[in-house]
Amino acid sequence: MAYPYQIKSLEEYQQNYQQSVMDPEGFWANVADHFYWRRKWDKVLEWNFKDPDVKWFTGGKLNITENCLDRHLGTLGNTPAIIWEPNDPEERHRVITYRDLYNKVCQFANVLKNNGVKKGDRVCIYMGMIPELAIAVLACARIGAIHSVVFGGFSAQSIADRIQDAQASLVITCDGAFRGNKDIPLKSVIDDALIGCPSVKKVIVCTRTRTPVSMIKGRDLWWEDEIKQVETMGNPPCAAEEMDAEDMLFILYTSGSTGKPKGVVHTCAGYMVYANYTFVNTFQYQPGEVYFCTADVGWITGHSYIIYGPLSAGATTLMFEGVPTYPDAGRLWSIVDKYRVNILYTAPTAIRSLMGYGLGPVNHKDLSSLKKLGSVGEPINEEAWHWFKDHIGKGRCPIVDTWWQTETGGIMITPIAGITKEKPGYATLPLPGIQPILVDENGKEVKGNNVNGNLCIKFPWPGMLRTTYGDHERCRTTYFATYENLYFTGDGCLRDEDGYYRITGRVDDVLNVSGHRIGTAEVENAINMHAGVVESAVVGYPHDIKGQGIYAYVITERQVHDPELTKKDILQTVSRIIGPIAKPDKIQFVSGLPKTRSGKIMRRILRKIAEGELDNLGDTSTLLDPVVVEEIKRGKL
Ligand code: PRX
Repeated sequence: MAYPYQIKSLEEYQQNYQQSVMDPEGFWANVADHFYWRRKWDKVLEWNFKDPDVKWFTGGKLNITENCLDRHLGTLGNTPAIIWEPNDPEERHRVITYRDLYNKVCQFANVLKNNGVKKGDRVCIYMGMIPELAIAVLACARIGAIHSVVFGGFSAQSIADRIQDAQASLVITCDGAFRGNKDIPLKSVIDDALIGCPSVKKVIVCTRTRTPVSMIKGRDLWWEDEIKQVETMGNPPCAAEEMDAEDMLFILYTSGSTGKPKGVVHTCAGYMVYANYTFVNTFQYQPGEVYFCTADVGWITGHSYIIYGPLSAGATTLMFEGVPTYPDAGRLWSIVDKYRVNILYTAPTAIRSLMGYGLGPVNHKDLSSLKKLGSVGEPINEEAWHWFKDHIGKGRCPIVDTWWQTETGGIMITPIAGITKEKPGYATLPLPGIQPILVDENGKEVKGNNVNGNLCIKFPWPGMLRTTYGDHERCRTTYFATYENLYFTGDGCLRDEDGYYRITGRVDDVLNVSGHRIGTAEVENAINMHAGVVESAVVGYPHDIKGQGIYAYVITERQVHDPELTKKDILQTVSRIIGPIAKPDKIQFVSGLPKTRSGKIMRRILRKIAEGELDNLGDTSTLLDPVVVEEIKRGKL
């Protein structure tokens, strides 16, 4: 069998789960045995959640790219590793076999070396969804450089923040990126970002859109020219750097409830084992299947389930450059039809938006190749779940509603395709190795079934974050200090009569807009930077397509004369500071915000008003000035 650790039945799931709790080290050692190690580990796990200090497979030596590439060459050399579908359906697609990918990764790894990149250096990657993005990521991993991929929708300011935090020495980008009918000028955004980033010595630019770009002498280099240099050197092989199990593999920035985004750190061995294990099991991947995840590599889903999970399993992963609605709302179904896709992994927000176009775009598409469907990123409402099940899966494909986070590295709570009995809206059961626990506000365990609580995890798993880059204390306070000896997810959760888990959404000040994670404090800081703004408060409200929309209450210095123009100005500011994904959907100008006597904004009240629950504001007795609330209610949008 291709994957000896692949669960085959519900019984086997239960046995594996039991074993993973009774003997976690033995359980994970059995899985890890099926990877290629330069040197096996001395100890499977050392941990405490107090510092926190978590180490998996200590003493082990490996390189993740040898597991994603080299070890497949003998058996899968001619098998497609990446199938790439361009934004424009008229453009030729690309098929990259495992051998091609290996060669290209080695070649570009040599480019990085020629440009002085060494093990441990940080490399920022800001590219569109083209195969060169996967090649860049793997080339970094090959030489032990730590990649920090930044999603193409973030602004120059956001990129600069991330580059400075990581002290990246090199940036890999493209001239531009095609997304739907847009052409995003990536290099020009990078040029703006780099004004404040003296750590960056080189920028490698891959050609995609042929958008004119400025190339700075001594700093900026064309990807294609650099590849030619390696070719003139006779394409020397690029030996993989031997990495320690706990060496950093990558940093990925994500939003929290306070301050700037933090750099979540994942390390080599544990992340590899976990991304692979969860991919193979959740989707029940079978050799030869075509697997399509619609996420962007700029997010954790793309890292774990477009690149590392599938490639380490020798799977065929389909990478799509465009958006589900271009050139029409049938694009995803055309792709499924064109490549005979077997597994489709997407987000509720995409499903909801496509539902809105009716069945026209689905009809006449041959979706008979589909065997398994997946959902990720936000709670999936029952209507979307059923539409996905009935009209895409034609009633015969299991849906896996996978709950996890940037910090968890891989899927945590999910049905196993075709094995776990599913229930719409429920992520169902934890994968082996995952020990969820619900607690009340005081950290007391909420036991039994039919209960609600804050979702925590009480035992380490290999894919978990190890630190937040450059600030371990922030990692401790954010995730490990709320409840003693527990990892706190920030999510609320209920456990039903069957012991199934249903994620109810964030319990902190983090929004989930179209599956994108955004901190309310971040949006407020951006709004507050706009001239004339005194203070603002941002909350989420239910949005039919995006899941959550952003509602901003804004106090200005002077009365606003042209509210529509001022709103547009504020949106422009937010776009510039964070990126278009953080633009509020609604802005209401107010003269004050509801505060407690100690000066804390009462967000609960603002949330209720944004949700339209004007008559149900709850306890308002601690309000400093109740008149403010009446005014806000009158002006509700
Ligand atoms: O609130 C949960 C929600 O997304 C958050 C994690 O966001 P991020 O780190 O960007 O990772 C998204 C992709 C893994 C979680 O704290 N979330 C994720 N998956 C689900 C979900 N909420 C409900 N159901 C899910 N399946």
